[in-house]
Amino acid sequence: MSDLALPDAAAAPAAGSRPAAVPRHVAVVMDGNGRWARQRYMPRFFGHKQGVDALVRAVNTFADRGVEFLTVFAFSSENWKRPSEEVSGLMSLVLVAVSKYLAKMAGDGVRIRIIGDRSAVSDKLRQAWEHAEQVTRDNHRITLAVAFNYGGRWDVVQACRHAVAQGLPPEQIDEAWLSQHMALSFAPDPDLFIRTGGEMRMSNFLLWQAAYSELFFTECLWPDFGQAEIDAALAAYAQRDRRFGSLPAHPVVPAGT
Ligand code: FPP
Repeated sequence: MSDLALPDAAAAPAAGSRPAAVPRHVAVVMDGNGRWARQRYMPRFFGHKQGVDALVRAVNTFADRGVEFLTVFAFSSENWKRPSEEVSGLMSLVLVAVSKYLAKMAGDGVRIRIIGDRSAVSDKLRQAWEHAEQVTRDNHRITLAVAFNYGGRWDVVQACRHAVAQGLPPEQIDEAWLSQHMALSFAPDPDLFIRTGGEMRMSNFLLWQAAYSELFFTECLWPDFGQAEIDAALAAYAQRDRRFGSLPAHPVVPAGT
């Protein structure tokens, strides 16, 4: 394979329409933990804890439905702006989650990958991530990519920095090269992009990779996003006509022509 070729998993979609069926790759903005907790007169941290449990359940449900890659937004480049106790709470929650769930996920056939800027997190957290990746590296049922200290703009910038650092001439920098040097180079682009919690924006998540993702927004708060909600999102996806910029496979012909 040449330097510029895409790996199979990330191959560009064939031109023209094709039936959607089950998405290979689902990306999720897990929004609504704080509101879920507030509705129960509990601190926000309680919502995040429930969010971790919801994530562990969701990984298995998506895997059971045939999804091969699940990428979730756990901590954005912008989340540092939250109160320091929430930020440190999320950091320690991740450590607790790894020790609580890693063995189960490994046993469930989940391969874990972390995407994002690891330079700003503690050594302890970095080591926990590396351990989780190492222990699950040969699993094949589903790949869970956890975006932590991740931002879509950061991802583009770090890929461009690679190009400059390697002294690449401008004409060799193209979409395929950049895709191979971005955080999700090991996965195809997300087919389905879900955001829970009622907001309808992407919040700097996978800006490059989600260029042709089907978008699905739901009012459901993340801790409540269970099997029925996942199936509703997958059913909505299956109805979509994915065109990747081409024309519909069955264009509507005006009556009388
Ligand atoms: C958004 O809800 C949620 C987050 C910023 C954090 C999501 C993190 C988890 C579910 C934990 C992930 C942990 C691991 C181990 C991957 P919000 O706080 O913005 O909710 P709100 O909009 O209701 O305030």
